[in-house]
Amino acid sequence: MAAIDVLLIGGGGREHALAWALRKSPTLGRLWCAPGNAGIAQVAECVSVDVTDHDAVVAFCKDKGIGFVVVGPEAPLVAGLADDLEAAGIGVFGPSKAAAQLEGSKTFTKEICDRFAIPTAAWAKFSDIASAKDYVRAQGAPIVIKADGLAAGKGVVVAETLDDALGAIDMLLANGGDVVIEEFMAGEEASFFALSDGTSILPLGTAQDHKRAYDGDTGPNTGGMGAYSPAPVMTPDLVQRALKEIVEPTVRGMAELGMPYRGVLYAGLMLTKDGPKLVEYNIRFGDPECQVLMPRIDADLLALLMAASNGTLDKARVNWREETALTVVMAAKGYPGAYDKGSIISGVEAIGEDEAIVFHAGTARRDGTLVATGGRVLCVTGLGNSVTQAAAKAYDAVARIDWPGGFNRGDIGWREIARETGKT
Ligand code: AMP
Ligand code: GLY
Repeated sequence: MAAIDVLLIGGGGREHALAWALRKSPTLGRLWCAPGNAGIAQVAECVSVDVTDHDAVVAFCKDKGIGFVVVGPEAPLVAGLADDLEAAGIGVFGPSKAAAQLEGSKTFTKEICDRFAIPTAAWAKFSDIASAKDYVRAQGAPIVIKADGLAAGKGVVVAETLDDALGAIDMLLANGGDVVIEEFMAGEEASFFALSDGTSILPLGTAQDHKRAYDGDTGPNTGGMGAYSPAPVMTPDLVQRALKEIVEPTVRGMAELGMPYRGVLYAGLMLTKDGPKLVEYNIRFGDPECQVLMPRIDADLLALLMAASNGTLDKARVNWREETALTVVMAAKGYPGAYDKGSIISGVEAIGEDEAIVFHAGTARRDGTLVATGGRVLCVTGLGNSVTQAAAKAYDAVARIDWPGGFNRGDIGWREIARETGKT
């Protein structure tokens, strides 16, 4: 097969992990990334194409002879970038605008669940404050209130009390729109990733992340402060159930509705006493979950992503490294609130890949010096024979990075480490 030039869209830790894995593909020619970051620049050519201007992306691809585009984040997919690239005859990894509703619209996903009998929390949708409040008064707390549509993680309130629930309704409906009110599901959360080409499904494995900013799962919600894969809590039986009861009916249902799902389907699951239930779908790799999936993949990633795009996933094979991967996110002090940019980071170059893989999430190089440019800045991934060992590898490397402007959680993997310690 001739070498294929690829454009990767995005500039976070997820995209560094994708670029790092794509780089190992024997059929990869040139790898471009828009916009990229200082870490991605080590494995790809970073360019500043405006990804909200689909014509500009198509023109760039034609100009450079790019044969395949890999879309990292959800926003360009929800905006229909995959459709526009396909219409221009350019192959793309990531779902169509119609299929991207699985992440873009909570009511869309809930309707899919109802229609295809996929286990999820009971729900109701409201656009007016009074009826929403009547409903929560009737249901009682705890209860979950969500803004419909993409809210970058900010549109969900898990209300412990009726007062919190009523306050959340006022807040989320203040500027119009809709809220989805859901039954509270008790259990442990885990994620399940699968590729689909519209018909076939290829499971990619499991992960768990830590969404709160500080140790002990306290503090504000973030995009994720660390993750590990596989997640032992997802036993082979639970993986089979998630596949059969949740992912397969979704892929079949989407095809039946004329919007086949091509790309990666990231199912956020609640492991309830009645089995796995869907919390939400994402239509992209997780960030930082991708930083623990990619180091474990032993396959030609480009070939896999192309198979998901062109309907040949049934012939694809993946091997997995036996080890567990765990990543620790290093964030700018203040994140997820206001934080400074431009602080200097040193020590990253001295860490060898056999020790830990340092994925860059928000960095730039200024006059040769590495500086922080984002909230989440570095993701340090260690590999080991258990979560405990992988955490030790990651934290050894974190300790060698000198970044006074940053902070990280010291307890990534704690739940699993406690279980592992209990076993021995
Ligand atoms: P979402 O943006 O839908 O993933 O929700 C964000 C977080 O809120 C999830 O990761 C869960 O921790 C929590 N959550 C959402 N929906 C529910 C639910 N129905 N029951 C319990 N927790 C939920
Ligand atoms: N780590 C959660 C996400 O990528 O949505």
